[in-house]
Formats: sequence, structure tokens, C-alpha cells
Amino acid sequence: MTNKVATLWVLAAVFSASTIGSIALAETLSEAEFIDEAKVKSMALGAELKQALQAAIKQGGLTEGIRVCKELAPQLAAKYSVNGWQVGRTSLKVRNPNNAPDGWETEALIAMENALANGGAPMQAAQAHTGADLAEWRYMQPIVTQAVCLNCHGAQLTPDVSQTLQVHYPEDQATGFEDGQLRGAFTLRYQRE
Ligand code: HEC
Repeated sequence: MTNKVATLWVLAAVFSASTIGSIALAETLSEAEFIDEAKVKSMALGAELKQALQAAIKQGGLTEGIRVCKELAPQLAAKYSVNGWQVGRTSLKVRNPNNAPDGWETEALIAMENALANGGAPMQAAQAHTGADLAEWRYMQPIVTQAVCLNCHGAQLTPDVSQTLQVHYPEDQATGFEDGQLRGAFTLRYQRE
């Protein structure tokens, strides 16, 4: 855990040596508290999604899993996006175009992919952003592809899955992944209200 926090700040320093720690955010949340809470929210969203997906697949197969994921993923993201938080998932290859990464997210995802390609673990990323009227923290937590994900994100999909994905996600980019590759990341913001 200490290790993770250390690597996180190494990466954060690479991204933004000048802004980290230099701004005052909401009085109620310190830097460390923000990161702790961001981790908790990432894990909670991930666990809820996984549970719902597993239940749907068990009940109605992979195509039901796709239907449930389409409905539930944005709902759950909205459920966690309260009290100054914005919580979601993103990727360099998105299924849902609403999950497309912005500039900072793209950089962080590329850094995570490079770390994995070099045999290391993909690191978390955190950064403080400042603007004219804006003070916010951002955090990303990598999501690595597992064998079970290949049913809907792999290179070989069943005709049923392919067809269902085409109907719901005509612009789907999120196939062709392999076990152990970076699938994407949880992405969180906390902003002073
Ligand atoms: C039953 C099919 C199915 C399985 C299995 C599945 N996914 Fe997905 N995944 C989806 C669908 C559908 C979406 C689009 C959800 C939306 O509309 O927001 C999605 C979206 C995502 C996203 C958000 C970024 C994007 O591409 O829009 C991530 C990250 C993701 N999946 C990771 C995983 C991981 C990791 C696993 C394995 C643990 C997994 N998925 C297993 C169907 C699946």
C-alpha cells in the first residue's frame, strides 16, 4: 500500500510537478483523503458492476450481460457522481463513445499501457488541476483485462455477442483485447462546489 502511494506520487509528479500540492481545495477533503476516497469509490463501482454483470450473464447469457451493462454502467456512474465527485470509466478504445478520454486521461492511459508493456504494473495517476474558477483533483485507477472479459472484449466473439454489440454500440472499439492488457481505467474528479 505504501508502495502504491509512492508510485502514485512519482507518476503525479511526472504529470504535473508544478501544480501538485500548490492549491487549496475543499476544506473538507485533504489530498490524502481525496485519494483514499477515490480508491474506495473505484472499488465500489467495480464491485457493483461485476456483480450485476455476473448475475445477468448467469440468468440470460452474454447478450443479457451486454444489455444490463449498457443500462447499469451509466446509472452506477451517476450514483457515485454526487457531492462534487464525477466517477466513470474510460479507455483508449471505448465501447461507449460517452466514455472517451480527454487529454489528461489519454496521457495517463498511455503511461499505464507503457508500464504494462515494459513488464511492470500499471500505476494509478493523480493530478491537481487549476483554472480561473476551477480547483479539482483527478484520479485514475487502471483496469486490466481478465479472461472473463474476453467474452465481450476479446478478439473472438460469438456471432450472438458480435451482433448484439453492433446493435447497441455501432462505433464499438473495445474488442481485440488479450488477457493481461490494459482495458481502461476508472476515472474520478473531485471539485469544490
Ligand atoms: C457481457 C459482456 C461484457 C463483459 C463480460 C465485460 N464487459 Fe466491459 N463493457 C461491456 C459493455 C456493454 C460496455 C459499455 C457500457 C456502457 O455503455 O457504458 C462495457 C464497457 C467497459 C468499460 C468502459 C469503457 C468503454 O469501453 O466504454 C470498461 C473499462 C470495461 N468494459 C471493462 C471490462 C472488464 C475489465 C471486464 C472483465 C472483468 C469486462 N469489461 C467484461 C460489456 C462487457
